Amino acid sequence: MPETLTIMDNRTGRTFEVPIEEGTIRATALREAKVGEDDFGLMSYDPAFLNTASVRSAITFIDGDRGVLRYRGYPIEQLAEQSTYLETAYLLLFGELPTNAALARWSDEITHHTFLHENVKSLMQAFRYDAHPMGMLVSAVAALSTFYPEASQVDDSAIRMRQVVRLIAKVPTIAAWSFRHSRGLPYVYPENDLGFVANFLSMMFRIAEPKYLAEPALERALEVLFILHADHEQNCSANAMRSIGSSKVDPYSALAGAAAALYGPLHGGANEAVLKMLTEIGTVKRVPEFISRVKAGEGRLMGFGHRIYKNYDPRATILKQVADEVFEVTGRNPLLDVALELEKIALEDGYFVSRKLYPNVDFYSGLIYQALPVAMFPVMFAIPRTAGWLAQWLEGIQDPEQKIARPRQVYTGADERAYVPIDERRSATLAVTPGA
Ligand code: CMC
Repeated sequence: MPETLTIMDNRTGRTFEVPIEEGTIRATALREAKVGEDDFGLMSYDPAFLNTASVRSAITFIDGDRGVLRYRGYPIEQLAEQSTYLETAYLLLFGELPTNAALARWSDEITHHTFLHENVKSLMQAFRYDAHPMGMLVSAVAALSTFYPEASQVDDSAIRMRQVVRLIAKVPTIAAWSFRHSRGLPYVYPENDLGFVANFLSMMFRIAEPKYLAEPALERALEVLFILHADHEQNCSANAMRSIGSSKVDPYSALAGAAAALYGPLHGGANEAVLKMLTEIGTVKRVPEFISRVKAGEGRLMGFGHRIYKNYDPRATILKQVADEVFEVTGRNPLLDVALELEKIALEDGYFVSRKLYPNVDFYSGLIYQALPVAMFPVMFAIPRTAGWLAQWLEGIQDPEQKIARPRQVYTGADERAYVPIDERRSATLAVTPGA
């Protein structure tokens, strides 16, 4: 059976064959379909990349129909159970799990880059008292490029890796300081004898105690959350990271762009919407009425459904267990019962079953983060995703097939027309009413 696709152009009657590699055809192969010598050739139109692979990647594998997620081949369930965030970050970035010695070196490197230049602190302190922490994070990460001008040398592998270490080490410090700022609390400096997650918790919550020691169960829960959120292949923010990085700008600027993409409610903000929905439902008794409203088209069941997963999101399964472990320490969140009842009813209901709508990662993560202000949710997502963004960026920047990202368009505007002097214009439709 030949691994080719035969295409017949009915406009010309011409037939041509296109090779099929790894389940894809090259979009540029369609250019052979032309109606004349001057014709540019056929393009594919794919808004939101619904059926377009933009990269070949060896980092993260998802089988959405079977609910499978693997980093570098390792199932997410095994990593969540046995790995740490720093080890997982190493795996994503370098392709293999580290040896003891490599992990010790890697942890040491990260630990010794967690401090920020005092001017970054001043910059963050200049924000308004009620600044959104994600806006602060995006801005502070972008500002880092001005502190490390060498970062613009993206073709130098040693320089690239230095920025990778800095970003993984410094983003938690920025994140914690954005939280402290929102509370009007002094910023807490990193502590080198604490692990990655313990240090982050200390920078978030330490008040007057000489040493902040996090509750071990909560520290482990956050470690698992960080592992689960470390990468998710070509999502909106990873695509932004690669696209901006393809211009060969420094990784701080590219990562600020990726974090900006994550800021959007359709990406990093869904867990906030879940929490809002659970609070509005309020009690288990009101769940059936809410489900009926969703089925009638009056709103969505937030935290359900996914563009890729048409099965239970494996991260949601793990988070359900994590939620139980967290609530054992913090006390049971009554909204968990509302969430469990929603899930139970939805998984048996024809509306959700026929549309393959299952809980996604955001269904339980909002509940776990409930002790934090919702504005911190995307920030908590950005900390671990930094590893994924950087792994995607490194892969893209070293891929000889990649060029500056530059999509085509189907132009739908006016045909050529002559400029009309202002006094001769009879009418004009303003797209935007000034002042509106
Ligand atoms: N509740 C009720 N109906 C839904 C839901 C939902 N959560 N999600 C999809 N549907 C229905 C939708 O109305 C449509 O029905 P019909 O065929 O009758 O028109 C059908 O299912 C297909 O939906 P779609 O909007 O075409 O699917 P999509 O792949 O474009 O959207 C989604 C995926 C995640 C945006 C959507 O499922 C959704 O809005 N879910 C709720 C928000 C949410 O939880 N988002 C977090 C996503 S995971 C985190 C991340 O990756 O950043």
